[in-house]
Amino acid sequence: MGMIVIDGMDGSGKGVQTRRLRDALLQAGYKTILTREPGGSPGAEEIRRLLVEGEPNKWDAMTELLLMYAARRSHLVGTVWPAMAEGSWVVSDRFADSSRAFQGIAGELGLDVVEQIHRIAVGEFKPDLTIILDVPVKIALERASARGGVEDRFERKGAAYHERVREAFIKISQSDNKRYALIDGSMMIDQVTAAIFQVIKSRLHLGI
Ligand code: TMP
Repeated sequence: MGMIVIDGMDGSGKGVQTRRLRDALLQAGYKTILTREPGGSPGAEEIRRLLVEGEPNKWDAMTELLLMYAARRSHLVGTVWPAMAEGSWVVSDRFADSSRAFQGIAGELGLDVVEQIHRIAVGEFKPDLTIILDVPVKIALERASARGGVEDRFERKGAAYHERVREAFIKISQSDNKRYALIDGSMMIDQVTAAIFQVIKSRLHLGI
């Protein structure tokens, strides 16, 4: 058991890929749950609504960060850690690297600020593997806006913000070769899935 995160920009394809990964792990006989951030526990899903709906400027970056970490703490305590204690694999659509990329770098709070809050709220816990899907901003935002709906607060922060998010994720993925893998999310969906499964087989030795 452990935690596998798929992270990246809005519209990078995390939704479909996390579902495929969960299905493959279950089919291979591993106890597995699929979860997401912000959200993933009843309380964190309530906080999610505050974050993803409404005007882009309704929270400043620090308020956003604190709400993200309130949601993350609830998600860990209510969902992730209990599932791992029961021997499950946890597949999560986003985790703390989203706070580093969105609030820390794109929102210009700085990574040190994120790390300080992270230490208080999360401590030393780390996912076993984080896969970052990289997609050009134009394609990612087109995909994200094609979905429609009310959860568009971050998408409306503009292309320059999202360019900083993309660069941030690339940089983060290069910070630790063992814990991160950067995968080209602009390939065909099946090719992205194959690349993700390959990394999981080779790094975590799971039989999927
Ligand atoms: P989602 O659409 O992938 O579920 O994510 C909702 C938005 O929240 C997305 O635009 C990215 C943003 N986000 C952050 O800014 N910081 C975070 O820590 C997380 C988890 C998400």
